[in-house]
Amino acid sequence: MNRATLTSLTACLLSAALSGPVHAEEGFDPARFVADKCSSCHDSSVYTRSNRRVNSLPALQRQVRMCDANVGTRLFDDDLHTLVNHLNDQYYHFK
Ligand code: HEC
Repeated sequence: MNRATLTSLTACLLSAALSGPVHAEEGFDPARFVADKCSSCHDSSVYTRSNRRVNSLPALQRQVRMCDANVGTRLFDDDLHTLVNHLNDQYYHFK
């Protein structure tokens, strides 16, 4: 491999690494995101079980942030809000 090839390969890998979270694009779909990324450890029954741990909107935000960090999906704040609102609309119904 010559030097020019190596340089462009490195640049390519770097830009892939720097492009960051993949959920920045328009049209973030929280329902699909949950189905794709959030159902490997628990299904949606944790959101509705009678002894669920989350009892307020801020707690829901914290929990989703924590799970997001665990999964390594690194949602942007906007998308995280969309996701929290989605879970709230569908399951939690906090004011
Ligand atoms: C690495 C495994 C894992 C993944 C993947 C995961 N979670 Fe969780 N999640 C947990 C665990 C563990 C709990 C706590 C369950 C318990 O207390 O019994 C939890 C609990 C929750 C709760 C609280 C449920 C309650 O009791 O009210 C919410 C909300 C939640 N997760 C959202 C998400 C979202 C959104 C995603 C996708 C970004 C996600 N989780 C992905 C492990 C995960």
